[in-house]
Amino acid sequence: MKPPKNRPHVLVFDSGLGGLSIVNALIEQKLGVDVFHLADTAFFPYGEKADETLILRVPTVIRAGIEATSADLVIVACNTASTLALDGVRAQVDIPVVGVVPAIKPAAALTRTGTIGLLATPKTVTRSYTDQLIAAFSDGKTVLRHGAVGLAGAAEAKLAGETPDPEIFQAAMSGLFDQKGGEAIDVIVLACTHYPLVQAELEALAPHPLTWVDSGAAIARRTAHLLQDQMDQGATALRSGLTTGGADEATRRVLVGFGFQTTQALNVEFQL
Ligand code: DGL
Repeated sequence: MKPPKNRPHVLVFDSGLGGLSIVNALIEQKLGVDVFHLADTAFFPYGEKADETLILRVPTVIRAGIEATSADLVIVACNTASTLALDGVRAQVDIPVVGVVPAIKPAAALTRTGTIGLLATPKTVTRSYTDQLIAAFSDGKTVLRHGAVGLAGAAEAKLAGETPDPEIFQAAMSGLFDQKGGEAIDVIVLACTHYPLVQAELEALAPHPLTWVDSGAAIARRTAHLLQDQMDQGATALRSGLTTGGADEATRRVLVGFGFQTTQALNVEFQL
């Protein structure tokens, strides 16, 4: 059954629960919209999956999510998906699509030392889209990249109330600071939507004070701009958290604990 609609429906899509960092930004900026979060839990994590699979999978899941929620706008709240499949998604849906990609431009404006650390999934750091962003927006600054293994999973564990393996945080920070010239990093771009959810754990391991940059606030502003004529003055409402993994109880508990009114299992027809 389709949800009734009085105000814009925004679908926030991620491989898992990283989209919640973007939902936090929508709430902070008080967007008068109804929010639906779709986690592709059956396929998490994307950061270690083959590009050929994701390029087919991401638009398919998003189309199913739009259909189920009557979304007016979709946020692809996943750098790993956006840097690969934004064109594919835009070609297959007829509502505005907001992509979340590494925030290189603001980081280049903020660095004082001229060295930026880019923390993302192993896939995002190697994408040609990421190369192009750096070429276009790094303003001649040095960008040291690290593809963090297991860090998105550690964020999911934290959300589920478990204690993530501290080695994962250590490895993520060492992956940046142990590179040649790494000691000069003064700005870190959190280029995976899961990472703002574990910023405190990363910050505790910082060798010196750092500026942390993520895409949340910019994405909320872009969404507000696109929906400016349709939003109302009320608070951001968290309607439903959708998952693609059949019996994903832990994820559903997190979604309800976060404030979603309901959860829903989404059936996605997908064959490789
Ligand atoms: N949250 C996703 C991103 O922004 C990726 C997490 C994953 O590996 O699935 O890149």
